[in-house]
Amino acid sequence: MSKEIILMMIDQVVKAKHKEAEFLPLLGTDHIEFYVGNAKQSAYFYEKTFGFEIIGFKGPETGCKDHVSYLLKQGKINLVLTASLQPNSEIAKHVYTHGDGVKVLALTVDDAKDAYFQTMKRGAISVREPFTLENEYGSVSMASIKTYGETIHTFVERKDFSGLFMPGFVPRSSGAFSKTVGLKHIDHCVGNVDEGEMNKWVKFYEEVMGFKLLVTFDDHDISTEYTALMSKVVANGNGYIKFPINEPADGLKKSQIEEYLDFYQGAGVQHIAVATDDIINTVTELRKRGVEFLYVPEVYYEDLSMRIGKIQEDMERLKALNILVDRDEEGYLLQIFTKPVEDRPTLFFEIIQRRGAQSFGKGNFKALFEALEHEQALRGNL
Ligand code: FE2
Repeated sequence: MSKEIILMMIDQVVKAKHKEAEFLPLLGTDHIEFYVGNAKQSAYFYEKTFGFEIIGFKGPETGCKDHVSYLLKQGKINLVLTASLQPNSEIAKHVYTHGDGVKVLALTVDDAKDAYFQTMKRGAISVREPFTLENEYGSVSMASIKTYGETIHTFVERKDFSGLFMPGFVPRSSGAFSKTVGLKHIDHCVGNVDEGEMNKWVKFYEEVMGFKLLVTFDDHDISTEYTALMSKVVANGNGYIKFPINEPADGLKKSQIEEYLDFYQGAGVQHIAVATDDIINTVTELRKRGVEFLYVPEVYYEDLSMRIGKIQEDMERLKALNILVDRDEEGYLLQIFTKPVEDRPTLFFEIIQRRGAQSFGKGNFKALFEALEHEQALRGNL
């Protein structure tokens, strides 16, 4: 056999392997849909405080009789806030059980039908078979599968659509939008699952969705005097989609993950991390608008320069805004966590600015969890 033929055969095997690993090419986070008790008021909150702009609507006026959805946008982030108009709908039951929370982590794909069948073939549980919505601007095809708790992934194929978001939505403005706070895109979405379930879900993302395990944190990495948790991060092939999964670990007291699971009534999305190019301005603006952040004790900043080395930002401003900093081999990152944005101590947001670092702020875990426990104790749940 000639050298050329052998090289060609090797090339084919490599390509086949690559194709196998890439059976689910994901183009990015398409949108995140919340089920809420009152979408009108939630939309107002996310516009006024987090700087999202209400741009679309679906409801009785547009022929959707049993629920309403508001579409909000900031940077590349699409937020859909959906509320039921009926007492016995799936949406109403979801809100009754979980409180307001994330229902759909939607992922953009080139071929929704193929994404559905590829994942079903590998053991996914179906929520909705492939279907297509059409209007004068083209069509959007979608299909959904289950993930942890009652959360689902919807594959969205929108390459043949040039209208607003998807058929069914009409343009809508509150007339009161002022400006964004500089949020650009989703960096990662974190799920909390029951004790002993983390590896099951990591395996789900690996086997069913072709993700890779990126990093593991055990209870030595993430523990305080009282509580502990374990976390594994999975990411898709191009790294656009990162899903850390947490489970509670044994500690002296109830962990923050257990508190979440108690109040959410099971597994669900714990936090959504959104990226900004200028965390100082973003957080300054968010604070001005009334967003509440976790308090970090002053002692955190005492030897921060020594731990982190030289950074571009003014340390005094970071301290005044309570922004955390961490460094890895590739650079550093700045991050801050809001308090829960629901009545129940469940979902919160992280604001993150990456300056090279691709990690998750391991150096901040202790400070962060002590701050979380302080809040938990105030609620009488520690
Ligand atoms: Fe995070």
